[in-house]
This record gives sequence, C-alpha cells and structure tokens, in this order.
Amino acid sequence: MLTPWGLFLCQLVINTSYHVIKASLCLGGSDIFATVSENSPVGEFIANLSIIGDPTGVNSIRLCLTGENANWFYLEGRTIRLNSSVLRVLDRERQGSVLMAALTCYEDDIIQSEYRVIVEILNENDNKPKFFEKTIQPRYISELTAVNSVVFTVKAIDADGDTITYIIDRALPDASYFRIDLPNSGKVILDKPLDYETKTQLQLVIYAVETNTKEWYNTSASLTVHVKDGDDQYPQFLPCTPISQDNKHTVVCTNPLYTVNITEKDQDMLLNFSPGPIHAEDGDRSLDTPLLYSILSGADKNRFQIDNQTAEITLTRRVENRHLTPTFRLRIMASQLNDPKKYSVATALVRVLAENRFPPLFNRTTYKGFIVENSSPATLVSTYGNEVLLIQVIDQDFVDGVNPKMHYSLPPTSATTALYHITQEGVIIAKTDRLRPFERHFLEVVAMDEESGEVAKASVDIELLQRGQPVPRTPFGEERLFRDMDVRMAGGIMGGMLLLLVAILFLLIRWAKRRRRRDPARRGAVILGKHPNVDLHEPCHPLQAP
Ligand SMILES: *[C@@H]1O[C@H](CO)[C@@H](O)[C@H](O)[C@H]1NC(C)=O
Ligand SMILES: *[C@@H]1O[C@H](CO)[C@@H](O)[C@H](O)[C@H]1NC(C)=O
Ligand SMILES: *[C@@H]1O[C@H](CO)[C@@H](O)[C@H](O)[C@H]1NC(C)=O
Ligand SMILES: *[C@@H]1O[C@H](CO)[C@@H](O)[C@H](O)[C@H]1NC(C)=O
Ligand SMILES: *[C@@H]1O[C@H](CO)[C@@H](O)[C@H](O)[C@H]1NC(C)=O
Ligand SMILES: *[C@@H]1O[C@H](CO)[C@@H](O)[C@H](O)[C@H]1NC(C)=O
Repeated sequence: MLTPWGLFLCQLVINTSYHVIKASLCLGGSDIFATVSENSPVGEFIANLSIIGDPTGVNSIRLCLTGENANWFYLEGRTIRLNSSVLRVLDRERQGSVLMAALTCYEDDIIQSEYRVIVEILNENDNKPKFFEKTIQPRYISELTAVNSVVFTVKAIDADGDTITYIIDRALPDASYFRIDLPNSGKVILDKPLDYETKTQLQLVIYAVETNTKEWYNTSASLTVHVKDGDDQYPQFLPCTPISQDNKHTVVCTNPLYTVNITEKDQDMLLNFSPGPIHAEDGDRSLDTPLLYSILSGADKNRFQIDNQTAEITLTRRVENRHLTPTFRLRIMASQLNDPKKYSVATALVRVLAENRFPPLFNRTTYKGFIVENSSPATLVSTYGNEVLLIQVIDQDFVDGVNPKMHYSLPPTSATTALYHITQEGVIIAKTDRLRPFERHFLEVVAMDEESGEVAKASVDIELLQRGQPVPRTPFGEERLFRDMDVRMAGGIMGGMLLLLVAILFLLIRWAKRRRRRDPARRGAVILGKHPNVDLHEPCHPLQAP
C-alpha cells in the first residue's frame, strides 16, 4: 500500500537553460476537471494542461503529479493520460467514482503553482445483476397457502446500479404455479393452488434482467420450492378401490365393503373381516394424524363393539336366530382425532351362516354306472341291479345328510364329459344316441356347498352295454349273469326295462321336486339338539323310496 503523499511521480525535465530565468512559465494553468470511462486502455487522454511552459521544451519547468490517485496518471508533455494496465483496470465499482491528484509546477525547483486534478470515472455497464444467495435458497410452502398471496421475494443487485426486473422462466412446467405482478419487486405470488398429494416439489427459474441498459444483462437463479403437506385430506379406509383418476393423477377411491361370516354359535369373539383388517389412514400421508373409530349404526344394542383405536370389532352376544337377522350392516366411521369434521364412513357386513362343522363327503370314491344301448336320445345312468345311479354327498351338518345348497357339476375332464349331464339331485343323464356299446367312460363329479364353498369330488366309471345285455346285479356276478342270459330273451327284457326306467324317472322327478321345497334351515338342527320333526318351519317328510 502506498502512502498518499509518499509517492513522488515527477516528470524530470532536462534543464538546458538553468540560468535563464523566465518567471511565470508555470502560470496559465487551472484546476483540472475531467472525465474518463472505466475500463479505458492505458494512455487514454484525460486532459491537456493550459500552463504556458512546456516541460518537453527548453523551459526550465518541472511538473509533478502527487496525491492519492496520482499513480493512475502519467504526463506526456502537457497531456495527462491514464496509467492503467491489463492487470490494473480502472474499475469504477472498485475504485470509486472520482480520481484525485495534485499537479505541482516547479520552476528552478521552486514551486510556482499547484492545481487540483479531479477526474470523474464514467460508469460502464460492466456488471451483471447478481442474486442475493439467501433469497434463492430452497423454499418450503404449505399446500394450503392462499392463491394470490406473496410466497417469497427474490432480490438481486447490480454493481453498476442498474434497474432490475424479475422474470419467471415460463418454459418450465412448474412456472404456471407462480407469477410476479410488480416486475421490480421480486415478489413471487402463488398463481394456482398447490397440492402436496400430487406434487411435492416445484422447480423455478427466475431471471434478474437489467432494464435501463442497452446490454440487458441478465442472471438466472434456479429455485426449488418444497410443498408442505397441509391437513386437507379426509381419512380413507383401506384398501382403496380407485374409481377414477383426474388429469392431475389424483386417485379417487371408494371405501371397501368389509364382510365377515359368523354362525349362530359365535360370541365373544373378534371378527375377522375381509378385506381385513378394518383400517383407515389419514389422506394426508405425511401428517398421518391419529384416527378414532366408531360404529355409527347397526351395532344392535352393543352386540358389536369397536375398539376406537384399532378398529377391531367384537361380537359380544351371539345371534339367536339367523332367519330373523341373516345379516348385520354396520356403518363404521373413522375421524381425525384433532378434527372430527374430517371423517370417512365404510360399511361392514356381518353374515350369519348356518354352522358348518362337517365337510360334505361322497360315500364312495368311485361309483359304477351302466347304460344299455337304446334308441331314446337320453337315458339315466344306472348302477348294479339296474337301479338309478344316485351320486350324492352326505353333509352331517344336516339331519338327513342332505345339504340343499349342494351344487353338482361335471367338470370337463375329457371329450366324453359333454355327453353327460348331472342334475342337482345327483342323477346322471347320458345322451344315448351318441354313445357306442362297449365303450367305457370316466367322469369326475364335483359337489360344492354354495354356502361354505366346500367341495367334494368323486368319479364315475360308466360302462356301455349292448342292447339287451343285462345290468349286473352285484359287482361280482357280472360274468355269470351274462352267461345265464338267453340272448333271445333280450328283446322282452328290454321292453320291461324301458318301462321300469320310465317309472323310476317319474318317481325321481317327484322326489326331486319335494327335496327342492325343503327348508335349508334344517341345517344345524342336529347341533342345536332339536329333533328334525319338531322343527317348526316345516315337518319332515320321509323320502319315499322308489
Ligand atoms: C491536447 O494537446 C495535443 C498536443 O498538444 C493536441 O494535439 C490535442 O488536440 C489537444 N487535445 C485537446 C482536447 O485539446
Ligand atoms: C503506473 O502504474 C504502475 C502500477 O501501479 C506504477 O508502477 C507506475 O509507477 C505508474 N506510472 C506512473 C508514471 O505513475
Ligand atoms: C438472458 O441472457 C441470455 C444471454 O445473454 C439471453 O439469451 C436470454 O434471452 C436472456 N434472458 C432474459 C429473460 O432476458
Ligand atoms: C376410546 O376408548 C377408550 C376405552 O375403550 C376410552 O377410555 C376412551 O375415552 C376412548 N377415546 C375417545 C377419544 O373416545
Ligand atoms: C351312498 O349313498 C347313496 C345315496 O346317497 C345310498 O343310496 C347308498 O346306500 C350309500 N352307500 C353306502 C355304502 O353308504
Ligand atoms: C362368507 O360366505 C360366503 C358364502 O355364503 C362366501 O362366498 C364368502 O367368501 C364368505 N366370506 C368370508 C369372508 O369368509
């Protein structure tokens, strides 16, 4: 650092006429007021001196520049020029706006006059605007922030003192969330509602642009806006079933229907709902406020009780009669503990089913069936002794072993399955016209309890007999019987058999109709210790055997 007056930068003049005294050569001067642009090159003209003497001439004057900024100048004859260099550029923003020095004129080493040199540095637009770092830091804004409110302010400065305008880069998609109303203020205003559930982070580019310069220098700043979750969502029962998706990818969903099956015997037990467990969540996932559960309706005088925190539902009293109350429909509410106005309601359905302790069972794994060749299009499949083959499951949950909800079917296991049909009474009908004698078919019979979903399976081995061939009486006597048969008798037997078949068919249909009318209610009578005949719903008609 140079001390202000320590530096003596004088231009020495060769004094050739030392003895000639010419006074007043230093006269004629005056204080110098000049201007120079910043960034000017070395040697830039600043001012001409108006003193009479010329230091480069024969006159014995000496000019000396002193003062604080004297090293910014040098003299070339009577011209003051700028002393700058590549390493020392005149910068108004650093140097200040004025350079000051003093010009001393010596004549014969005697100070004759002194003038002030005042040079104003002219500004050039050599600086871009610059953002204040702290105004472009990541921002955190609640999604509940009102539209049209100022969410933050950015600020930039221009060293040249230029006027700055702030502009949001509209090319970025998130720019649509914000606007700047007063371009010079830097105040960023929310232009449309934020939604944490669809967008948690926004990217913004803001320009600070000079508006009073011809260069229009600008700087850009990238800004991240984090959206904070606000409490704007209602609780939601899970699992959520989406019903629609709006263009903002918000999923709109319905609450599930929870179901459970119970029997008349159940009591003091936690109900295991499906889909389960019953559970709701705050729609504002990041807030996840605690919820409170309650039963709005359907609790049937506290028969059902809900745990207000876990949503577990307990059956406290058993259902006395499932025919009076086959189902219970509970309306369950989940509400925010901190704001009960934010709630959601779902339905829980409790079905009271007949008790099911025993699985349905076929009393054989394989049933034997016969069909005798004949000309009618359809024939009932018979078994040994030419009796109609009855394939029925026994369900011990029922007094007579007959479950009225049992459904029989023949799953297609081979091409021949299509030639058969099973009635809901367990009788198999064959499409006789498409069968050939001596063929043997295997069918699978599936019986399903339509109430419990339980399944039992059995297979049927069907043999096709020639016209007139008798149906074996027992599993062991087949061959002997066949030998004893007089083939000539076959025609007569055939006629008799046909008659028998028609009679059986008739009886079967009657019997089947009766069974259909039976009350399914009788399931469970065994368990409840009632005699089926005392069942008040319908007296029991013993089956008339054919
Ligand atoms: C300054 O002086 C030089 C020579 O003495 C002359 O050429 C120039 O034109 C002068 N400049 C001004 C602005 O008077
Ligand atoms: C010009 O500036 C340089 C760098 O500061 C300095 O060393 C030099 O003495 C100056 N020249 C004059 C004539 O003042
Ligand atoms: C900022 O400056 C760049 C380059 O100088 C220019 O391309 C751009 O258009 C300017 N942006 C604004 C908003 O003035
Ligand atoms: C939740 O239930 C418990 C007992 O079951 C009760 O003490 C508590 O007050 C209930 N909470 C609310 C907020 O109702
Ligand atoms: C199997 O059940 C059928 C009817 O379901 C019945 O006619 C037959 O006697 C039963 N057989 C045995 C071995 O229990
Ligand atoms: C309840 O029983 C029905 C048949 O009546 C069955 O379809 C359903 O899957 C059962 N539901 C549950 C949760 O077990």
